[in-house]
Parts: sequence; C-alpha cells; structure tokens
Amino acid sequence: MEIINRGRRLRGTKELRSMVRETRISPESLIYPIFVDENIKGTEEIKTMPGQYRYGLDTINKKVEELLENDVNKIMLFGIPKVKDSQGSGAYATDGIVQKALRQISENYKEMYLVTDVCMCEYTSHGHCGIIHDHNVDNDETLKKLEEIALSHVQAGSQMIAPSDMMDGRVKAIRTILDKNSYFNIPIMAYSVKYASAFYGPFRDAASSAPSFGDRKGYQMDYHNYREGIKEALYDIEEGADIVMVKPCMNYLDLVREIYNRVNVPVAAYSVSGEYSMVKAGASLGYIDEDKIIGEMAVGAFRSGASIYISYFAQEIANLIKKGLIG
Ligand code: PBG
Repeated sequence: MEIINRGRRLRGTKELRSMVRETRISPESLIYPIFVDENIKGTEEIKTMPGQYRYGLDTINKKVEELLENDVNKIMLFGIPKVKDSQGSGAYATDGIVQKALRQISENYKEMYLVTDVCMCEYTSHGHCGIIHDHNVDNDETLKKLEEIALSHVQAGSQMIAPSDMMDGRVKAIRTILDKNSYFNIPIMAYSVKYASAFYGPFRDAASSAPSFGDRKGYQMDYHNYREGIKEALYDIEEGADIVMVKPCMNYLDLVREIYNRVNVPVAAYSVSGEYSMVKAGASLGYIDEDKIIGEMAVGAFRSGASIYISYFAQEIANLIKKGLIG
C-alpha cells in the first residue's frame, strides 16, 4: 500500500517531537492566586481545596519565598476581611487586609509581581459583587466603590489591577481614576469573559463569599453564550483593558481561542478553584495521574491562545517545566 502522508514521521523521536512542538510555555506566564486572611495567624487549609491555604499576615511572606524559589514570580491577591458590611468597606480601607499584605510583600520582595483582584464579594455582608439596591446590584453605584478599591490597591503597591465584578463600565472607571492619580502605567487585566459558574464553588468556601440571596447571573455571563463573550472582551478593550481574561478555563477554551483570534491584546485564562478541586479529588482517589493532568490542562490553555495562565497549580506547573515534562 502506498501511504503518502505519514504524520508519525515527526513523532518518531524525542528530538523530533521537541523540534516541531507548537506550544512552548515558561513559568513567567504563570500567576498564582493567594488568599490573605485578616482573621487568622498562621495558615488554614481550605477544606474544599486540599493543598491550598488561607495565610495570615505572619505567614504570607514565607509562602512568597517558596513561590519565588519555585520560579513563580507573580501572584494575585484575594483578601478575607475581619468585618463584612453592606458597603464592602474592608475592600477599600487604607489598612484593609489586601492593602496591608501589599505593603508588606512589596517592601520585602521586589522580585514578586503583585496583581490584585478588584471585587466586593469577599467584603460584603450579602456576598454580592457590589452595592445592593432593591435586591439588585446597582451597577453605577458599585463603580464608585471599584474605583476606590483599585486606587487603594495601587497606592499600597499593587502593580496590576484585575477587576472581576462584571459591572458595566468598570474598566473605564478604573482607568480614569488611576490616570487622574498619575498611575498611567498600571495595567488593567479585565475579567472580561467571566461566566456565572459552579466552578467557583470552592473559592466561595475559601473566601466565605457565596451570595446570601439569589445568584450572580444578573452580572456574570450565561454559559450558553459565545458571541456575548466576544462582545464583552471588545467592550473592555475599548474602555482601556490591557489584557482580557477568560474564566473559568478548562471548558471555556473555545472562548480563549476565539478571543485570541479577534483581539490584539494578551489573553489570560483563569483555571479556577473547581478545576483545581476536581483534579485533587480525582487524584486522591487514584483515578487520574495528578501531575500529567495538571500539565495537560495548562498546555491546553496556552495552545488555545492564552499567554497568561492563572492557576492554583502554578508552582506544580513551574516544577513540571523545570523537569522537562511539559514546556
Ligand atoms: C470575585 C472572584 C471570584 C473568583 C475570582 N474572583 C468568585 C466569584 O466570582 O464568585 C473565582 C475564582 C475561583 O473560583 O478560583 N468575584
């Protein structure tokens, strides 16, 4: 039989496979999400995310050192405040938990790049991502708070602002307040294509931020929609987003690819808490090979067009790259 095309020719040896490899990744593209908790000293393991912890201000430095030693030099900070109220005031307090952590880390570790998530749900008593009026999150009232949060983060040492609230107009509002205060060079990484997803379940457990009534479908996107994701990304870029994000990751790679094709800013993909927890659960039962699954998930995101990958497995991924198992 005469076979014309023999795809296996390029898969025959390790050298050949590595020469024709299309996706190359490096630890520089990784961001590790980290929880800092005003209520604790030491660390507390997150029940639904085995291997992930909430850190007190007294232990977060040690974790930062560990990350740096393992080639992860970017973190995204989330805060859990002592007091939650209807205005989410802990989110923009000068001495709020994230602001304190930012000062502490930026003073001690210049080589760690600090990104902050800007949202209200970890800080509001009702767990919604903004100010409530008539049982509804008031978009324009919330923008004023988001501006304050973003500014307070940057003043405390944040180097990149990542709004995750899904209010309309937030990117423009945040860009405007930052520019007004001469923070022209602080980039905005917008959670542009953010779906209302059950994959955030373990995060809400970690941050005690589940909404006390209703759900987030009035502001986060309906996962049946694809074209709407493109619309959101384009809106955010028009408003000044420097990077657009797709979230969750694993089952939204269609959007990562489409956004990559349609825009000319970097695309970030956030592999969220539920993705982490599923891998941990499957691996602990011996059903899957944890390291191989982690690698495959990460490479899948980069292959789809992401150039930034936010993952609770950042350290493990960096180690897989170092060992030459992926990359
Ligand atoms: C804040 C925020 C959430 C996540 C990131 N920023 C929670 C949510 O929207 O409910 C989820 C991250 C994760 O699940 O890992 N709004």
